Amino acid sequence: MQVEMKDQINAVVGRYQTRRSAIMPALALVQESVDRLHGDVLKEVADVLEVPEIWVYEVATFYGMFNTEQVGKFHLQLCTNVSCMLAQAERLLQHLESQLHISKGGTTPDGLFTLSTVECLGSCDTAPVLMVNQDYHENLNEHRIDELLVQLKRQAAT
Ligand code: FES
Repeated sequence: MQVEMKDQINAVVGRYQTRRSAIMPALALVQESVDRLHGDVLKEVADVLEVPEIWVYEVATFYGMFNTEQVGKFHLQLCTNVSCMLAQAERLLQHLESQLHISKGGTTPDGLFTLSTVECLGSCDTAPVLMVNQDYHENLNEHRIDELLVQLKRQAAT
């Protein structure tokens, strides 16, 4: 891990009463600069935080926002919890699978898209909701998803 990253993590630690409390923000920081949070990375984070490696592993593997496996350039996370399910999220999942030619959990061969389902994204009043990397796309339907996919492919090409 680069010295600069260690300094950034140590700066985060200063905002919390315990070093353990800084695990989530530290992982979020590190994730911005690695392709996935694999074992070596988790160990390094634990070393910098001076906490047991298992604590970092538990957090990294519990929360869907942390990628311990490689994901595509665009990680599509469709909420399928109650409000979104009632707003046809299952139908949108089938549509996404059909448009991308992958199943839930898969990544397109070109590495552009990974499709996942997640629990409530906390935006139930605008269901159905899809998170693309860090951005929310709300009140979705098939047409809006098609437009979004075109936009993302265009973005990837530039
Ligand atoms: S159930 Fe989908 S955002 Fe809450």
